[in-house]
Amino acid sequence: MQLTDSIGRNINYLRLSITDRCNMRCFYCMPEDGINKKEHSSILSYEELLLIAEIAVELGIEKIRITGGEPLVRSGIVSFLEKLAKIDGLRHLALTTNGLELSRLADGLHKAGVQRLNVSIDSLNAQTFSVITRGGDLKKVLEGLDAAEKAGFQPPKINCVIMRGVNDSEILDFAEMTLSHGNSIRFIEYMPAIKEADWQRYSISGSEIMERIAMRYTLETMDKGAFAGPSRDFKIVGAEGSIGVITAVSGHFCSDCNRIRVTSGGEAKGCLFSDEKTDLLPYLRPSNSERLAEVLQKIVSTKPERHSISDVGYNHRNFTMSQVGG
Ligand code: GTP
Ligand code: 5AD
Ligand code: SF4
Ligand code: SF4
Repeated sequence: MQLTDSIGRNINYLRLSITDRCNMRCFYCMPEDGINKKEHSSILSYEELLLIAEIAVELGIEKIRITGGEPLVRSGIVSFLEKLAKIDGLRHLALTTNGLELSRLADGLHKAGVQRLNVSIDSLNAQTFSVITRGGDLKKVLEGLDAAEKAGFQPPKINCVIMRGVNDSEILDFAEMTLSHGNSIRFIEYMPAIKEADWQRYSISGSEIMERIAMRYTLETMDKGAFAGPSRDFKIVGAEGSIGVITAVSGHFCSDCNRIRVTSGGEAKGCLFSDEKTDLLPYLRPSNSERLAEVLQKIVSTKPERHSISDVGYNHRNFTMSQVGG
């Protein structure tokens, strides 16, 4: 079966956020005092998340990415993933993490059937990293990356949100990590998520990022792989790894968008930036698979064509990345 939206896009990718909690407090994602965390009872149980995943796969979803907050802080995650990986028809299971708990969990994640990890690292300087994450420990994250490879994962994709005046001086350092190692570094345009005033002061476009790298190195474009996300990928000629750019604000990858989202509180969303969401709880408590399938189909058929954050007069909303999972 195939899921197709109203403008013909094939929707085969579900981003499933399993918690809104996190063991870091990145300044672009959360206010300093954290967010109003959901009550335990309003967070979907693993059984409920599995039911949603099963129905989504029956409808045509082939790839699921587990997100958070930070997914690895939720207890019982490994046995949940084991069950998820066994869903018939699911072809790709991936997870996005901040890496803090990877040393402890990488082995279990790999054995459970997770195929690929994306890890967020916004600075290679311990002090800058700690400022951005409000106290995060870079060393622990780098140990987590090693643990992932030892556990049998391909080198994780590294997500790096580039912010002018904060970490843009490290663009080349990150790019150079790909010279001798098979990592894929993806530079992400900073998105206004917490209603911060004057957010444009941090913005650096994907094209400026790539120009800065191209001043030093010759880049070649790479083809998009199966289930590719929004990243446009390049390689420094001769390098082992690749460099991607995710133009979340300036880019126009909406025309290739292949995804929907479900938050840990049970809201289904057709677009990261849209206010439109549908509460799945009435069809989960008690569960009604037929209605759940109808609602997911409706999310797809009413999916917005594109986001409007770069439009003049955009009404800046607070959409708490940690609740939606990016
Ligand atoms: P791959 O499956 O490996 O391609 O990963 P991905 O890029 O889809 O997911 P990841 O969780 O690593 O997200 C990387 C960055 O892309 C984050 O900053 C996300 O917020 C952003 N991102 C992911 N999906 C979308 C999307 O649909 N729209 C926009 N604007 N940004 C997105
Ligand atoms: N702008 C860009 N990327 C963001 N992420 C979280 N908040 C933002 C933001 N405001 C990224 C994280 C992580 C991914 C899930 O989303 O760095 O890599
Ligand atoms: Fe946590 Fe990720 Fe948000 Fe940072 S960006 S606070 S690691 S959920
Ligand atoms: Fe898809 Fe919305 Fe992201 Fe555009 S902004 S790629 S439409 S989820």
